[in-house]
Amino acid sequence: MFEDPFRFSQMINWIFLKNSDVRFQECIENPEGYFDSTELDEYRKFIVPKRKMEWLISRMLVKQLVASSFDPPLTLSPRLITIRKMSSGVPYVEIDKSGRVGWLSLSHSNGGVFAAFSRKESQHFGVDLEFIEERSPQLIADYFTDSESRQVNSSQGEDINFHANLIWSAKEAFLKAIEKGLQLDTRCIEIIGIKPKCGDSEWGNLEFKAEVNGSQAWRILFRREAGFVLTLCIPADQQIGLARIIMEP
Ligand SMILES: CC(C)(COP(=O)(O)OP(=O)(O)OC[C@H]1O[C@@H](n2cnc3c(N)ncnc32)[C@H](O)[C@@H]1OP(=O)(O)O)[C@@H](O)C(=O)NCCC(=O)NCCS
Repeated sequence: MFEDPFRFSQMINWIFLKNSDVRFQECIENPEGYFDSTELDEYRKFIVPKRKMEWLISRMLVKQLVASSFDPPLTLSPRLITIRKMSSGVPYVEIDKSGRVGWLSLSHSNGGVFAAFSRKESQHFGVDLEFIEERSPQLIADYFTDSESRQVNSSQGEDINFHANLIWSAKEAFLKAIEKGLQLDTRCIEIIGIKPKCGDSEWGNLEFKAEVNGSQAWRILFRREAGFVLTLCIPADQQIGLARIIMEP
């Protein structure tokens, strides 16, 4: 459904990898070969090893994702594909110091990374990744609407954790698409429909309503893979194609 690039006004390329640190041993040993001086400064400031590794892996994946999003793929040094951050925290890509290119969103969870990039800058989107694990009743009480809490609490068996993480992830993807992150109340968006057993290894649609200023209409897609839930919030009024980038082993 999403594969033919000529049918779409925008292509979003995405990449997902779990437990990816083994692939990046060379980069861990020689970060100077992969990151420019600004990125190295950012990398060296991390104190918590988990966060440092998360940063390194996500940057390496994004550099590959960006290079693969061009036809033919870019063959530049990874040091020339850089990931910067706006003051809001929103990430962006620069290629060979020539200003912002396209639109990027990324997420980390439990050793996994999910990132999406489009060469078109004008249509923004947001992604989120959550490892499907137990969520505290306090998180649900504080950040979910009453209706969302009821959806989780009326779920059965393993669906309880899946639904809690799906709702949380969808909220974060939406809040990243509108570039606000957790500056906004997470209850400004309410997930209203989860169909049982959907979203396994293919993108499913999630029904929701949102109360935020602005005329943009959004669509939220989700899939389940390798114990994670991936969500993607994209403009609803565009013909958007999604293409997965598979990393070489
Ligand atoms: C954005 C946010 C929802 C991320 O959620 P999370 O579950 O903690 O983390 P995720 O791994 O899913 O996403 C993190 C990524 O989101 C991106 N991000 C951060 N803020 C963002 C925003 N406002 N909009 C879109 N994307 C954002 C970053 O690329 C970040 O990864 P990085 O730090 O490695 O670059 C949340 O952390 C947040 O709102 N942070 C910003 C809080 C804030 O008010 N910051 C003020 C300025 S720094």
